[in-house]
Amino acid sequence: MSDSGKSIESFSGEEQRYEPTPAFSAQARIKTKEEYDKLYQESIESPETFWKRETSELVFRKPWDKLVDWQLPFAKWFVGAELNITESCLDRHLETERKDKPAIIFEGEPGDTETLTYTQLHQKVCDFAAALKANGIGPGDRVAIYMGMVPEVVIGMLACARIGAAHTVVFGGFAAEAIRDRINDCGAKAVLTQDGAWRRGKVVPLKATVDAALEGVKSIEKVFVYRRMSAQDCTIEMQEGRDLDWYEAIKAADSSLGVEAEIVDAEHPLFILYTSGSTGKPKGVLHTTGGYLAGTHLTTKYVFDLQEDDVYWCTADVGWITGHSYIVYGPLSNGASCVLYEGAPNQPDWGRFWNVIEKHKVSILYTAPTAIRAFIKAGDEWVDKNDISSLRLLGTVGEPINPEAWRWFYQKVGRGECPIVDTWWQTETGSIMMTTLPGVHAVKPGSCGVPFFGVKPAIVSSEGEELRPGEGGLLVVQNPWPSMLRTIWGDDERFKAQYFSDIEGAYFTGDGARFDQEGYFTVVGRIDDVLNVSGHRIGTAEIESSLVAHEAVAEAAAVGRPHDLKGQALVVFVTLKPGFDGNAEMEAALSAHISNEIGKFARPDLVVLVDSLPKTRSGKIMRRILKDVAAGREVQGDLSTLEDRTVVESIQARFS
Ligand code: WT7
Repeated sequence: MSDSGKSIESFSGEEQRYEPTPAFSAQARIKTKEEYDKLYQESIESPETFWKRETSELVFRKPWDKLVDWQLPFAKWFVGAELNITESCLDRHLETERKDKPAIIFEGEPGDTETLTYTQLHQKVCDFAAALKANGIGPGDRVAIYMGMVPEVVIGMLACARIGAAHTVVFGGFAAEAIRDRINDCGAKAVLTQDGAWRRGKVVPLKATVDAALEGVKSIEKVFVYRRMSAQDCTIEMQEGRDLDWYEAIKAADSSLGVEAEIVDAEHPLFILYTSGSTGKPKGVLHTTGGYLAGTHLTTKYVFDLQEDDVYWCTADVGWITGHSYIVYGPLSNGASCVLYEGAPNQPDWGRFWNVIEKHKVSILYTAPTAIRAFIKAGDEWVDKNDISSLRLLGTVGEPINPEAWRWFYQKVGRGECPIVDTWWQTETGSIMMTTLPGVHAVKPGSCGVPFFGVKPAIVSSEGEELRPGEGGLLVVQNPWPSMLRTIWGDDERFKAQYFSDIEGAYFTGDGARFDQEGYFTVVGRIDDVLNVSGHRIGTAEIESSLVAHEAVAEAAAVGRPHDLKGQALVVFVTLKPGFDGNAEMEAALSAHISNEIGKFARPDLVVLVDSLPKTRSGKIMRRILKDVAAGREVQGDLSTLEDRTVVESIQARFS
């Protein structure tokens, strides 16, 4: 901040800019705008040279014949190369001083800790890989993972990768139905889970939920259960022949089985991660091996300016893409020491995050705007109680950050001297696509910044015409990039339709955005029917299809409305079938139904029972009207296509 003389803050017109401190730039991996420009230009014009040099420290058992094969929309990267990603994340460090360096610094919610060095993590991964193999799981199989934030979830993911099986991690907040759908969609052969996980001082019964999810599921042969809890805290039932204790399975297996990593093609599936889209069915986003490694490796190194002695903490859950890319693959391929925190940010109190930072001397913190807003609300005193001066770099992801939250993060957490990287990317992009580089670029709060190496974003009109600075439009990416999704699992047609049909020749992100004269992008938000609730992506169609499956529901419409802490909150409008009473119990029952079918994180803020929904004459629900009503706004726009205006009036009356 200017008053401490540490950072240069300037205004040009309305715009506020924060330059990196000279001290930060001096030590950064990339120090100047000229260096960034040169590398960016090279990444676009001579990608072969760029990627060859930038991946040289990674382990490729066979080099690639061709960098990229782009049969729009299908891309192959590092064509002909062979590797196993765990050799870059683990084995390669064992030949260096990193072998005794902490890889994972685990902090349990009750306060227990465990540190695994690279040597220890490697051993545990090889051991569990052996257990998987001994139980008939091998290359090409899919393994579902439903676990909390414990070292074993990372071990499980890496063990799958080590044997060439694709993992599909299902976020621990999802309910049994949602797990079942995902397992059925990808035909998983095994599940990795744990008895229970700590969350806000309570036990989340993960294994029991898996048991419920597996009813009627044919493809699952084995369930591996890690015991996190004591028997008093959590009892579980083990199904004979199907369920195996994690460490017993290791003991029973021939440990030599996991030592040699399965060498796979660069395009071999690494994982499937389900995300919400604009239809009711979640999309299984497929990421493959070589390109994903290259993308996560490079972004982690340059965006977080990762240095050998950093202690890095990404607070995301491993069940989302941020956890995959920036807790597991990116940091480990760089040999970083990563904090893994099990529980809630306010357990036992709102000082927990800052306490974890003090305790483990965290130097890089990557978190979400929704968490920052919650900390602001909790009060500065929680930050003040701890010494967080170890921090040197901050990052955010998941949604646009509002200026108030940005400034608080910058001043209160970053002492007005830590650069903040606001990273824009998606489950589909695999790694960070736009950001500032911390030692190079001035930050403009609210803008995510400029393209990362190898990425060519643009703003276009709905006709695909490129727009000029200041004009709002659709955010697209004009070229393929290594960590891009390869398809939607089992559904190439949906992949094409979803991402490559709106704008010819380009990947359509689903986001609306604009850029300024300096080439800084500002992402405004989704333009499709996808909500961003506390950084969780929720498809309104998914909520609606879950609701109409309820016996009492005739029709449903789900919309988002602005929310101070969550960014957006979910509001659902429902009409009931004849014979069902629209009372408070019904509202509660429908809310509970969504929690049970999808997960608690998708529970609506408000269930509104109405006599009818506003529709066009052709019978389409006019959600934009419901959005205005839910937000307490005047209903805007053209209402001439509305079939019955009195419907809107009666819904509005419910809100007054
Ligand atoms: C959507 C992707 C990528 C990891 C977390 C979410 C929004 C993400 C930003 C940002 C503005 C952002 C976009 C995007 N988003 N980061 N820095 N600024 N918006 O992954 O669940 O796939 O969601 O999150 O709308 O499309 P995801």
